[in-house]
Amino acid sequence: MVNNMLFEKPISEENPLDSDGLYPDPEKLLDKDSIDLSILQKLIGTSILSVDQFNKQLVLEICKFAALLESTEIAASHPLDGKIIITAFFEASTRTRLSFESAVLRLDGKIISIPLGQATGQAKGESLADIGEMFNAYGDLVVLRHTDTDSIQEMQNNLRLPLINAGNGTGEHPTQALADWFAILKWKPRLKDDEVAPQHQIHLGILGTPGSMRAVNSFLRMSLLFKSGIRKISIVSEMADPLGPELDCRLQKSGLDYLVTNDINDVVSDLDVIYMNSIAFLGDSYKTLDSRFKLNAESNLKKDSVVLHPLARLDELDPTLDETPHNLYFTQAHGAVFIRQALFISILNRFDRLPEKDIPLSN
Ligand code: CP
Repeated sequence: MVNNMLFEKPISEENPLDSDGLYPDPEKLLDKDSIDLSILQKLIGTSILSVDQFNKQLVLEICKFAALLESTEIAASHPLDGKIIITAFFEASTRTRLSFESAVLRLDGKIISIPLGQATGQAKGESLADIGEMFNAYGDLVVLRHTDTDSIQEMQNNLRLPLINAGNGTGEHPTQALADWFAILKWKPRLKDDEVAPQHQIHLGILGTPGSMRAVNSFLRMSLLFKSGIRKISIVSEMADPLGPELDCRLQKSGLDYLVTNDINDVVSDLDVIYMNSIAFLGDSYKTLDSRFKLNAESNLKKDSVVLHPLARLDELDPTLDETPHNLYFTQAHGAVFIRQALFISILNRFDRLPEKDIPLSN
């Protein structure tokens, strides 16, 4: 059974059904092998804090599991029945909070939601550590977003439940990176192979500053796990040092060919995947970085290239691209629900609630 609840595929001359960029089929990511349960079981009871805790095999099994959840109707099995998820958002969010909550509700779990920190004792000066101590009694798993990079450590001082980092200041956004690569692998499943022929390798462009933008940071870290499919990485940023020493060292160690430029026109016509972002919470407010780099339907994009963006967007990503096959950003956002479902089922060990006939798991 195919689950098309999240979006319908428009049938028209302009948006053909086989348009890979706009609506890649999750079943393209599922090969004949079943999903390796023993890999997913490593997530039971764990917290998801950084991309650094993943290896390629774990990312692949999570993405394959998410592809199965996207193409299978499992709500009737009530996989999260009896579980309470606390979504604690101390920074604004459209996609991350609502997709986590949609994931829970579609699996029949329950939610306690804090959409803004000011609705908690934080408004009276309460510490995150104390709020974390309270969470222990109220739920089974916590999803935290916060403007402070140190928020994860502070909450973990007292929290004994699994914690998912939904974006910590200028730190990381690891489940966003999973959603990013889920979209890329649905678009081009051969990028998961350990050997990718040179003509199929991608030139990956990153517009933004990985050193201070958490989504771009996590995306770059995860991209290094898939280096067999990458021909080159180009970082396009107005910053003199967009990577910082740690990421620069990682890129050098990866052996990948990479360059840093401040002019998108140097590379745009050769890029196969363009990952862009512009808004970051820096210090005490939102800043717009790299806003001079704009893409629209008239940009000099390679014919089969795709654009990703964690969103929200400003004018760097023009809506004229929305109805073109370059648009992978809506697939990226929609697919996040299934990535987050895969994480909940794995962390809370609810594999036994899945319908056996539809979910080919193997030990
Ligand atoms: N991708 C993302 O983090 O979006 P939100 O800020 O809307 O959650």
